[in-house]
Amino acid sequence: MPLGILRRIFDNARHPRGPGAGLFLRAMNVCHSPLSKWGLGYLDLVGGGEVLDLGCGGGKNIRRMLKASPRVRVCGLDCSEASVGLSRRLNWKAIQAGRSEIKLGSVERIPWPDGSFDVATAFETVYFWPDWSRNFQEVRRVLRPGGLFLVCNSLVPWEGGQGPGRFWVDLLDLGRAARTDFRALVAGSGFGDVEDHRRGRRGYLLKAYSR
Ligand SMILES: C[S@@+](CC[C@H](N)C(=O)[O-])C[C@H]1O[C@@H](n2cnc3c(N)ncnc32)[C@H](O)[C@@H]1O
Repeated sequence: MPLGILRRIFDNARHPRGPGAGLFLRAMNVCHSPLSKWGLGYLDLVGGGEVLDLGCGGGKNIRRMLKASPRVRVCGLDCSEASVGLSRRLNWKAIQAGRSEIKLGSVERIPWPDGSFDVATAFETVYFWPDWSRNFQEVRRVLRPGGLFLVCNSLVPWEGGQGPGRFWVDLLDLGRAARTDFRALVAGSGFGDVEDHRRGRRGYLLKAYSR
């Protein structure tokens, strides 16, 4: 298949839209599962709390977190109408029960008041955010003091886009993200106690707490 067509199809990772968006989102719900499950292992939701999943895509991670505890409330945000639509369908019962709310919008201006959440998660999405420092500060705004920000990427930063993810870096034009030190950016955006973890060469996770 010509590279141009492949790029157009995979632009759905950046912003799912058009006739193939539903299928693409369902595929991401399945294909991202191993990474998501690994990342969610770093979250303790048993005691409850309010979570916001940023760039929630097809909504599978919202569902997983809702299942972790009946005391947890999990909201979602995505700038794609297709993502919001599928996330709402997948989590409809929880929405009806008041345990979830999924909104259309960008991380540039998160449509919730200051200090609304205990946890903010971002799975496979920060690469696409337009202005990392400002967007991370916006995440901090909606977190309560001491709230947790968890970023989970398949792209491992120290490989600079040269590792096993190189195909995706080229296809999705992620060169800038691959060269970016997200740990330093998060630390410089009002977060402390930043720690990072890796899943071999296939996963990178950042945990940081709002100050
Ligand atoms: C690769 S998908 C990941 C979806 C999901 N988190 C997962 O792990 O399967 C990236 C998602 O981030 C969303 N996204 C990209 N830029 C965004 C922004 N500025 N604000 C909110 N969502 C954004 C896209 O619309 C897309 O649904």
